[in-house]
Amino acid sequence: MSKIIISPSILSADFANLERDIKRVEDAGADWIHVDVMDGHFVPNITIGVPVVKSIKKISNLPLDVHLMIENPEKYIQPFAQAGSDILTFHYEAVKDVSSVVNIIKSYGVKAGMSIKPKTPAEEILEFLPLLDLVLVMTVEPGFGGQSFIKVCAEKIPLIKKYASENLIIQVDGGINAETAKICTAYGANSLVAGNYIYKSGDIQKAVQSLR
Ligand code: DX5
Ligand code: ZN
Repeated sequence: MSKIIISPSILSADFANLERDIKRVEDAGADWIHVDVMDGHFVPNITIGVPVVKSIKKISNLPLDVHLMIENPEKYIQPFAQAGSDILTFHYEAVKDVSSVVNIIKSYGVKAGMSIKPKTPAEEILEFLPLLDLVLVMTVEPGFGGQSFIKVCAEKIPLIKKYASENLIIQVDGGINAETAKICTAYGANSLVAGNYIYKSGDIQKAVQSLR
């Protein structure tokens, strides 16, 4: 079986000690750093933006997996790419022209991801899979950390996997812990985002390893 990519979400980290909290997941064997960008429009919450990505880039060698929960993502790809994003994932529901957004992302040499919210059927995005490096299947309504996993969302994964090339990364995000991770990887996910489970567990090392 191919390797599972663990991408801890810093949304659950202590922003006053972000460097420390990033080093902790690095030491625990995390593969990527997941950065949740929210604009208060696409989702009812505001988090962090370009300057924070730029600062993280200076202190971490792990790929930065940037999840854009924003309207008009095409307007912000350039600054996020130039700040050091390695993967830029936008929401299908936020764009009119998927292929043009993907092309903009790829023009900066950045991997292109596209995410679907819980109510968006997988059938709607199958035609776009060949364009993408990553598909993010949200397993909670985007907007907040610490919510409960919605199992029916993970049931979209087999159909995506059936139509995907071997190289497509299938990521899940929301309510991921050791139990729900197993459900998702059994369906075919190979990248797991986890915020609360890793940062609020009391033992980051153990939490990261238990996801594998
Ligand atoms: C939610 C974000 C997630 C969030 C996950 O909208 O996209 O990345 O940090 O948090 P947990 O793992 O706590 O559900
Ligand atoms: Zn996320």
